[in-house]
Formats: sequence, C-alpha cells, structure tokens
Amino acid sequence: MKKSIIFLIISLFFKLSGIAGEGMWIPMLLEQLNEKEMKAMGMNITAEDIYSINHSSLKDAIVLFGRGCTAEIISDKGLLLTNHHCGFGAIQRHSSIENDYLTDGFWAMNQDEELPNPGLTVTLMVRMEEVTNQVLEGVEPNMSEADRDEKIKENSDKIIEAFEKDSEYQAAIKPFFKGNAFYMIITETFKDVRLVGAPPSNIGKFGGDTDNWMWPRHTGDFSIFRIYTDKDGKPAEYSEDNIPYKPKYHFPISLKGVDEGDFTFVFGYPARTNEYLPSYAVEMITESGNPHKIKLRETRLDIFNKYASADPKVRIQYASKDARVANYWKKMIGESSGIERLDGIEKKQAYEAEFNEWANSSEELKKQYGNLIPAFETAYEQLEPISLATDYIAEAGLAMEIVSFARNFSGLVEMSKADEIDEEAIQQEIESLKRRTSGFFKDYYQPIDEEVMTAMLKLYDENLTPPFKPDFFNTIHSKYKNNYQDYTNYVFSKSIFDNEDALNELLDNYKPKKYKKLVKDPAYLMASEMMDFYDADIKTKRNLLNHELDSLQRIYMKAQMEMEPEKRFYPDANFTLRVTYGYVDGYHPKDAVYYKHFTTLEGIMEKEDPDIYDYVVEDRLKELYQNKDYGQYADEDGNMHVAFVASNHTTGGNSGSPVLNADGELVGVNFDRCWEGTMSDLMYDPEVCRNISIDIRYFLFIVDKFAGAGYLVEEMDLVK
Ligand code: ARG
Ligand code: GLU
Repeated sequence: MKKSIIFLIISLFFKLSGIAGEGMWIPMLLEQLNEKEMKAMGMNITAEDIYSINHSSLKDAIVLFGRGCTAEIISDKGLLLTNHHCGFGAIQRHSSIENDYLTDGFWAMNQDEELPNPGLTVTLMVRMEEVTNQVLEGVEPNMSEADRDEKIKENSDKIIEAFEKDSEYQAAIKPFFKGNAFYMIITETFKDVRLVGAPPSNIGKFGGDTDNWMWPRHTGDFSIFRIYTDKDGKPAEYSEDNIPYKPKYHFPISLKGVDEGDFTFVFGYPARTNEYLPSYAVEMITESGNPHKIKLRETRLDIFNKYASADPKVRIQYASKDARVANYWKKMIGESSGIERLDGIEKKQAYEAEFNEWANSSEELKKQYGNLIPAFETAYEQLEPISLATDYIAEAGLAMEIVSFARNFSGLVEMSKADEIDEEAIQQEIESLKRRTSGFFKDYYQPIDEEVMTAMLKLYDENLTPPFKPDFFNTIHSKYKNNYQDYTNYVFSKSIFDNEDALNELLDNYKPKKYKKLVKDPAYLMASEMMDFYDADIKTKRNLLNHELDSLQRIYMKAQMEMEPEKRFYPDANFTLRVTYGYVDGYHPKDAVYYKHFTTLEGIMEKEDPDIYDYVVEDRLKELYQNKDYGQYADEDGNMHVAFVASNHTTGGNSGSPVLNADGELVGVNFDRCWEGTMSDLMYDPEVCRNISIDIRYFLFIVDKFAGAGYLVEEMDLVK
C-alpha cells in the first residue's frame, strides 16, 4: 500500500514531466543521457553494468535472433530464451504429422535431442563506436542526395574494411537521427543454434489472433534454443563436435515477480519507429495508407477464415499466412485509431506552427529552415498516390498467390531469352524452382486464391484511378466488362501456376524455347504487367521523392535538435540494440475501465473454450491449476502470474527482449504491445502505451511443472 502511494507520486511526477517510458536509448550513451533518471526511477545498477566495453555487462547476454527478434542468454551453457512466435518457423520446420511440435510442443530431454536449424543465426553486439566524422568526410551541404549517399557508402566501406582486416568480428555502419549521426556496430554471429524446447501452441499462442495486440493477455509466448560454438568457443557452422557456448554474461532470473510501480527496462532490437515525421506523413499513413491496407487484408482474412473453419487441413495450410496478414492488419487498425484518439495530427500541426515561428525568427534560420514544412507538404502531396499505388501492388496484386508465385519464374524466362544460353545456370534455376513449387503447393488451396483474386481485383479497380493501375485492368474493362469473376475464371482455367503436376512436368522437361509458354500464361502475364508498371511508372518517381524526403527529414531532425537544445532526443529505432525503461503499470483503456498490470492462470481458465482452437486448455495445465501445484513459481498472493504490462517503449523486433528489474535480473520476456498504444511507433502516449511481457515465473512453471524439463531450470541462476 505504502509502496503504491509513493509510486503514484513518483509516476505522476514523471508523467507530468513527460518522461515516463518514452524513448529507445543508445546503450553507449546511457551514462551520459539516462543513468540519472533511471536511478531516480528506481534502478539499482549502473549504466556501466548495462553496457561496458571494459568488462562483461548485460549487453553480452542479448542477441538479435534470426532476422527479426531478440533473445537473451539465460545459462552459462548458452541457453537462449525468445518468443514462441519468433521460434515459430524453426518449430514448424521440425514438425510433421507424426511429430507435430507446433501442436504438442517439443522438449529435448538432453543435449543430444536438441535440433539444429540450418540458416538460423544469432548475432551479438560486441561494441559500438561513433564514426560520424569519418563517414561524413568530404560530404558537402549542397551535394545531391545521390552523391551524398555514394560518398557515405564509399567512406563507410573504407572504415569497415580497415576494421575487419584486423578483427575476428564483423562491422556495419548505420545512420542514426535521420543520417545526422553514424555508428559502427561490431558484431559476432553464431551459426549453430539448436531448438531446445517449445510449449504446445495452445500455450505459446494461447488466444491466437483474437488476443493478439491486446491486454489482458494469457499467452505463454516463449521458446528455448541453445547456441553452440567450436571447441575454442568461436562461432562455427553446425557440427556434431560443437560445444555449448560459454557466454561472457547470462541473466540471473528473479523469482520475486513485479509489483505495480516497479522500475523495469527492456534491452533489445527494436526494428523501426517514425517519431519525428511531419503531420503530412502521419496523415498519409493513418488516414490513407492504413485504411486501404486494412480493408484489403480484412477481405483476405475473411476468405481465409471461411475455408479454414470448414476444413482442418486448410486451417493448417493457411495458419502461417493468416498469422502474418492478421498481425499487421490489427496493428494498423490500432495505430490509426490511436493517432485519432490522441489528436496526433493536430498535435504535430501545432508543433509545426511552433517550429515555423522559430524557423522564421531570424534571417539566418529562415535561410536554412524557413521552407522546410511547406516542402514537406508538397512532397507528401506528391507521394500519396504513388505510395498508395505501391501499397496496392503489395497488398492486392501480390496477395493473389498464383500471381506472386508466377513472378518467381521471371528469372528462368530471362535466362531462356538470353542470346547465349547458360545451360548450367538454367538447370540450377530449375532445381530451385522445383523446390519452391513443392513448398508453394504444400500450403496452397486454390478455392481460396480464386476468391481472393476476384475480391482483390475489384477493390484494386474501384479504389485507384487509371495511371496507378497495371495494364491487365484494360483487359478486364474491355473484354470482361468489369466482371472480375469472369476474368478470374479465365486466369485459373488457362494458367498452369495452380497445377502442381503440370508445372513439374514443364520443369522436368524444360527447354529454353518453352519460355514462350510461360510468358503467355495469364498469371505470369499479370505478374509481369504489374512489375513492368511498377518499374516504368512508380519506381523512379518514388525513389526521387524518397530521396527528397530523406534530405528534408535529415534537416528537420537537425533543426528540431537546434530548436530545443535542452531536450533529450532519442534516435528512431533502426534494428540496433536499445534500452527503454518505464514502470510496471496498469492503465485506463476507456472511460470507467481500469486494467490491472498482471494476469493469472485463473484468466486462462476463464477464457477456456474446448470448441475454439485458440482457447483450448490441456488437461495437464488444468490439473496443475486445480491442485495449485505452482511450486516456487507462485506469486506471494498464491496465484500463478502469467503476464504483465509496463510503460516501456517497444516496437516490432523487441519480441523476445529481456524485461529486467531494478537489479538487472530477468523478470519477463517482452512479446507484444497493448491495443490502445499501438500508435507508439508514430507517437508515444505514457497514459496508454504499454508493452506486454510473460511473467518469467510462468515460463519456469511451464518448463518445470508442465513439461517436466526441470533439468533446464537447473542450468539457470534463480534469485529468490
Ligand atoms: N503482435 C505480436 C508481434 O507483433 C505477436 C505476433 C504473433 N503473431 C500473431 N499473428 N499472433 O509480433
Ligand atoms: N510482437 C512484436 C514482435 O514480433 C513485438 C510487439 C510490438 O510490435 O511491440 O517484435
């Protein structure tokens, strides 16, 4: 009680001062910019404990997992923890009808049973260095954007080459603050990463897409891997002789749980945010791009669902596609309504008015920045239709699976048309297309695709005007009198891209001359007309405008920092390691409603519905619940806590990130954001922006009590 009053006062102070939660900070600058505030908010460790180049620190236990997630090391034997949805691909690849690890879960009961995952890598940041001056050497203010890019690339390549020559590590240079600063990121990439454990989907994906992006949440969204190295502890390709990685650091795991008001921080790899866009851009995204894409995705999802609920095989075939489409469909709805609720565009406009006043307050400033906001307005006005045309290609055109699949054959066509035929290259291409073909048809259900095509063509045609549509619409208008269904029937009756046998037959007996059959195929034609249209009418204009906008953004960023010299700015997320911090905190999603900061196993039982796939609860979990058999993982209140929310500013890529307490101990694993706060990629609101984490004790409970893999817990350092 006392604690919560103190918290109310502190959090009110930070909310009033506008600093609670917002910001994705650069690890090497924490000491300078954030340590004081983090300590004031409750942190007991130092910035040097989090990021150090002199001794081991928290950063040594965090990796970029695959291409889009974060994972953390939780034992001195390289045990790795991330989300279930991050390990999903790997788990799926090992699954078959006999061993359905997606449905049943997977637990290696000893190291020999761990499963290798060719192609899966994890990358550790060794350190980072600012290299702005070297990168910008020879870059002149009045250079064209293309020349500037070229110069920067040339300088960067030189710096990287010089570094890598004498190093066992890799380096990359990334722009920060819209290209006003540059950092070299030095990394080490591990290539032998094995699957150790995953809960069944009815735990790891509990609540499915219905609960996705929502609080209160009850998903045990985790999976476990292990890093292996060669005998010397160095990264190596998979080999039976490899040994578990001995990390410089691994996280201790707290059994203490979290209380409302506790300081937490998240350390991971946020992918992309756009916090400094002008109002015109936010308007374009939330009032034009998102609504169109939402409608297109919704239409597609309805069709998926109709067929999936009628046929379990189709449900499995479309599970991954459905999850992919549904995830950002829902995110965009949340984002647009969040910006509206926040009056985000008006807030940006007000800020721009202030900016303009400052930018016109002296001749000197006026020369540099006076025209910035009007220039944005013009550029976004021009970009909007181009951007929509691009969206329709991606979200309607390529949503027709037969078309996006046919597009893969353009390489073969080009090779076959060449003056000099390279038989060997063609043979290789054919082998690769055969593999693609079998992968495609494994998860393809033609009736879905036909219905999607008719629906996509209609929306495409109705929502865009002529210069922004590919040529096949001319045929649809003239020959098919706008009857999308008839046109679809024609495509599917004539194309071979929906016929696995015919396609294999063609590939098995392929001769370069046969490319003529491919280029006449209606699905191939649709793909190539669409790509030709993109190349001829969209790409150049889009690149030009984006170049101009890059330049405007860079100047705007610099100007904002000049206008508010006292303000601490953080750079937009760019897939580099960042720290964000806040409080464990519930929130008011709407009038009269308050959401508490944690959920429990009780809530899983409340949601249970044996008839709905996403809400099935297994007997084993029910039994543990009925017997309250939670062991050392129960909270003080006697319940099994499942998930909690806090005001850490996170985004996509932060999935799997460690959530740490004031002492730097692991208390959770980040896996989502709450619905009301999904606009935080464009604008953060401390009132409702919350990241969602699994309570680390639920993870331990599932591993130990549910799965009986307690030997894994023995590897970890638990703090009571
Ligand atoms: N919303 C989370 C994220 O953005 C979880 C996604 C898991 N996928 C899903 N369709 N439920 O990645
Ligand atoms: N689930 C997201 C991911 O895969 C994290 C949620 C978010 O976007 O905040 O990274």
